[in-house]
Amino acid sequence: MADFDIVVRGGTVATASDITVCDVGVKDGRITALGASLGPGAREIDAGGKYVLPGGIDSHVHIEQKASVGEGVLAADDFYTGTRSAAFGGNTTIIPFAAQYKGQSLRQVVQDYHELAGPKAVIDYAFHLIVSDPSEQVLGQELPALIKDGYTSFKVYMTYDSLQLDDYQMLQVMEVARREGAMMMVHAENYDVIRWLTNKLTAKGHTEPRYHAISHARLAEGEATNRAIHLAELIDVPVLIVHVSEQRAMERILWARNRAMRVYGETCPQYLFLTADDLDRPGTEGAKFCCSPPPRDAESQEAVWRGLQNGTFQVFSSDHAPYRYDETGKLAHGPNPSFKQIPNGLPGIELRMPLLFSEGVLKGRIDLNRFVELTSTNAAKLYGLYPRKGTIAVGADADFAIWDPEETRTVTWDILHDNVGYTPYEGREITGWPVLVASRGRIVVEDGELNAERGSGDFLRCALPEPARPLEQPVPEMDPASNFGAHLLD
Ligand code: URP
Ligand code: ZN
Ligand code: ZN
Repeated sequence: MADFDIVVRGGTVATASDITVCDVGVKDGRITALGASLGPGAREIDAGGKYVLPGGIDSHVHIEQKASVGEGVLAADDFYTGTRSAAFGGNTTIIPFAAQYKGQSLRQVVQDYHELAGPKAVIDYAFHLIVSDPSEQVLGQELPALIKDGYTSFKVYMTYDSLQLDDYQMLQVMEVARREGAMMMVHAENYDVIRWLTNKLTAKGHTEPRYHAISHARLAEGEATNRAIHLAELIDVPVLIVHVSEQRAMERILWARNRAMRVYGETCPQYLFLTADDLDRPGTEGAKFCCSPPPRDAESQEAVWRGLQNGTFQVFSSDHAPYRYDETGKLAHGPNPSFKQIPNGLPGIELRMPLLFSEGVLKGRIDLNRFVELTSTNAAKLYGLYPRKGTIAVGADADFAIWDPEETRTVTWDILHDNVGYTPYEGREITGWPVLVASRGRIVVEDGELNAERGSGDFLRCALPEPARPLEQPVPEMDPASNFGAHLLD
């Protein structure tokens, strides 16, 4: 008679804080024991010489979402191909966006995304909201009610014609986030700087993909990041600056964190492994690399590595925003589109963790605990999924991946499981791959095969990320004049 449904034997089990060689016992979808020489399991898995890590949480992915640039273009991955690809990359949870476009009811948008995800997802998922139309109805009713229903984080954009909020609107949504205890994610780029540069460049006939990187100037990112942090300071609300690419923005995040402000930073593989030169590839191939903010240069790559080491960043996500390199995606506006018509975004859901493992852990830039923290644990904590997700502990969901630290593969798009048809990381050699992935005790990936039914992933309601800080406890070192009015909001 088996004591467990599964026992994973003799692996090196790593969490954000510990590394132990032990067995992992799983029953009814949960981890029920960690220890030496556990009793028998109905399924025994030998993990000797391998790492057993918490399943990745990719907390920034765009699935079945309309592009913010390029009218009518839809992301290439649906909830089946997106979650399948995520699972092969060692993930057991994704947090995509339920994206509101102007005029839409936020509640309806959430319902629509549930209808898309429910029948297709093969691993678990929660939703962030995207708030682009902070109407009275949204601010007064829909957003507070959705936060209470388990959608406890939302993203706002400081740029893009279709999504941008001005500073007044940013303050309005921050006020709701503060009152409800939600986490606000900010796409920080200065809209007018980008618009002005875009108009100047295109008026001179500079329309090739490489000008996308020039129009999305580093200064636009640094300025908007600084502004978002100051608006958050005024209201005293937590903010997470997403997809950070460069030093100015990083400096502002670190500045805030050194003042114990609840400011968090996220970065992504494209800022470690690509540069603006990739947008200058022959023909229109540079379109494959158009994302916002764009990849920068070698110096920024080094700075981003330092940010992963020194605590500037808490989250490493993919910002998987996949568009095929054809008329359904990147080339929807013809074979030679102006950069301003190219849908923004890159695929990365499957390679996010292998890239960071190979170049970060195996090359000694970050240790295994930090890898786990950046790819799983911190996202679970910041978005209210911890400790059910994001760790290997008794009582947690049995979401884990067994990694072979010695397996080397050369990346080609056809070894991946998304629906994109190319990868920005073509030809890279990656060492260290997840070889078995379990989601709530179901072995979903093994021997290169997916063993999960469409629709078997569960929707996760998120708790509030952290209790709102009582105002009677001023933040140490914070300028008392800067958030003088915050208490008037309560
Ligand atoms: O270029 C990007 N990152 N596209 C996806 C949308 C977003 O801003 O995250
Ligand atoms: Zn964004
Ligand atoms: Zn994004």
